[in-house]
Amino acid sequence: MVEQSIWMQKVAADPGHSTWFIERFRSMSRAGDDLAGEARLMDAMVPRRAHILDAGCGSGRVGGMLAEAGHDIVGVDVDPALIEAAEQDHPGPRWMVGDLAELDLPAQGITTPFDAIVCAGNVMTFLAPSTRREVLRRFRAHLTQEGRAAIGFGAGRGYEFSEFFADAAASALEPDLLLSSWDLRPFGDDSSFLVALLRPA
Ligand SMILES: C[S@@+](CC[C@H](N)C(=O)[O-])C[C@H]1O[C@@H](n2cnc3c(N)ncnc32)[C@H](O)[C@@H]1O
Repeated sequence: MVEQSIWMQKVAADPGHSTWFIERFRSMSRAGDDLAGEARLMDAMVPRRAHILDAGCGSGRVGGMLAEAGHDIVGVDVDPALIEAAEQDHPGPRWMVGDLAELDLPAQGITTPFDAIVCAGNVMTFLAPSTRREVLRRFRAHLTQEGRAAIGFGAGRGYEFSEFFADAAASALEPDLLLSSWDLRPFGDDSSFLVALLRPA
């Protein structure tokens, strides 16, 4: 048993938290907001019909769009209410409830390694801090040797970028390309957001 994620601690403190999150994205979608930035970058990174893991998929925003682009998507999230919403809003991909710190998809019959992992929307900052390295280690274990993990999160959320880079290195992942946005701005010392494309070391 791993330490409970910060996200599920929030849900325990406020049972309406998941519904608020689901409705927030549904209403942005109805308003025609651009919710596809992460999916566009992922689509550019992989071959057609790629096998992609949406890690911390929430209500399926990113994985759902990648499935529409023809990719084979598995989405994993610790919050059952969000997985239920993903199944309703984006039928097709395999949506699964699970803690990323315990990710073992071969044990659940998904034996093909992933061409890419997308971990968008500050997921890393909602993990229990004690599990961050284990999550990155499991990302590495689920990638092909040529695969890449794209991980995006903001500064000021309790996980320093320097600490993240050290955790990635300790998990046999190294930077392939560092960006400060999903629309391909370069990362620098003063960046307030990080999109790290990591490859197996
Ligand atoms: C802000 S939401 C982002 C959701 C989605 N990636 C997106 O961008 O729309 C953060 C997500 O991280 C998930 N999460 C946090 N800790 C997790 C863990 N240990 N295992 C799996 N999912 C986790 C939450 O359940 C939540 O869906």
